[in-house]
Amino acid sequence: MKRIIAANFKSNLSIQEIQQYFKTLNSSFNPSKDIEAIIFPPAFALNLEAINFNLGAQNAYGAKNGAFTGELTLDGLVSLGINYIMLGHSERRAMGEDQKLLTDKFNFYKDAGFKIVYCIGEDLNTRQKGQDNIEYMLSCQLEGIDLDYNGLTIAYEPIWAIGSGVSAKASDIESIHHFLRQKTNLALLYGGSVNDSNLKEILNIPDVNGALIGSAALKVENFLKMLEIAKEA
Ligand code: 13P
Repeated sequence: MKRIIAANFKSNLSIQEIQQYFKTLNSSFNPSKDIEAIIFPPAFALNLEAINFNLGAQNAYGAKNGAFTGELTLDGLVSLGINYIMLGHSERRAMGEDQKLLTDKFNFYKDAGFKIVYCIGEDLNTRQKGQDNIEYMLSCQLEGIDLDYNGLTIAYEPIWAIGSGVSAKASDIESIHHFLRQKTNLALLYGGSVNDSNLKEILNIPDVNGALIGSAALKVENFLKMLEIAKEA
């Protein structure tokens, strides 16, 4: 299966910095059939040129257009040539996006034929209660999501590992990805403090098809380095 290396810029970098980032990526990254690079920049950068990588929205509302002040919607994304979207990131769930809203968004963008990176992950409290509790929480986060949709990629991002500088242990990632693999044959990503030092080990864990990277991807040199690591892993 193709490796997917995705960068989530979250609400970081200016338009000038992202322009420079994409310019470097467009001239320095040699795409290969084995690697797919996706960048999820802030919405204001979704109109920039992406030649050898894919651009995706970090979030959008499930409507074509209309009276939805402050929201990105389908027609706007399509007009920019965007057909990737991330849904369910824990930072959005923490802002109040519940499973019903996420399921509605998922179904809407699935019907529109988008490729969807759908994020799930447990909090520290649940992790400390053990594997059964974690699996239950992840199953709830997958409720209503069509796991047979071939445009779907699932990103397992344990909340306690995000932005902490310490990724989950390989054995923990392996057991969760094994659990997810029983549910789907689609690509499974790991996210949470992935960087150029731990990426190779993470990509070699069974059932890990790629990574979703936050802070370590904010510098283009680092992202390029990680794309190289993924080519060799
Ligand atoms: P970090 O790589 O900064 O831990 O962020 C991970 C993440 O939330 C990607 O979506």
